[in-house]
Amino acid sequence: MKKVKELFNGKAKTVYSTEDKDKLILLFRNDTSAFDGEKIEQLDRKGMVNNRFNAFIMEKLSEAGVPTHHERILSDQESLVKCLEMLPIECVVRNIASGSLVRRLGIEDGLELNPPTFEFFLKNDELHDPMINDYHIISFNWASQDEIDKMKSLTFKVNKVLQKLFLDAGMLLVDYKLEFGRFNGQLYLGDEFTPDGCRLWDVETRKKLDKDRFRQGLGGVVEAYEEVAHRLGVELS
Ligand code: C5P
Repeated sequence: MKKVKELFNGKAKTVYSTEDKDKLILLFRNDTSAFDGEKIEQLDRKGMVNNRFNAFIMEKLSEAGVPTHHERILSDQESLVKCLEMLPIECVVRNIASGSLVRRLGIEDGLELNPPTFEFFLKNDELHDPMINDYHIISFNWASQDEIDKMKSLTFKVNKVLQKLFLDAGMLLVDYKLEFGRFNGQLYLGDEFTPDGCRLWDVETRKKLDKDRFRQGLGGVVEAYEEVAHRLGVELS
């Protein structure tokens, strides 16, 4: 499958159309951004690591019964996916308090959340992705009630699968963000699951193994992503 036209150039991925109107190609670039694109750097190998890591996770989720847009890897930095009609919504589950939750509510960083908590955010860089609730989604017609229910149940299903997967490899899944879209009247998991969009800590040392290393200038960003991949048995080039 070949790239036909560039449709969208995001902060870390570029999306291309293909000869098949139902399929897109995602190019995982080396660009790494934080703070709504204020901090941007090129990190060698990151595109390849994220592409291969994402494919591994999407396949695990698919095996567990989560419908995903992922079809197959095409090259080191490219994957073929279904062309979803994306909802302008981010779904976040948190097992441990960190990041914006800590800043917003004055919670202690590292506090275990039992049960885990769920948040919706609007995908809008200009507004810095504000937090929204179910009523906003319905009033502004961003998704239906049925889709809200599905986003929640699928995001928690992902939690069940991935918490165990990471814990078995010595890591805590602190939190993560998912995006969903429509395809043939059904909801599918879209976008990506990589250390760019989740927090992962070593279970013993609590060493950060995710994009917080980039946000906080801790260094060793790609090395940490590669360590996560290695622990899970993801094959890298
Ligand atoms: O910043 P915050 O603590 O709300 O992020 C929660 C989780 O969602 C983190 O794992 C972060 O990497 C992810 N996230 C993301 N893209 C955003 C916002 C958050 O991947 N635009």
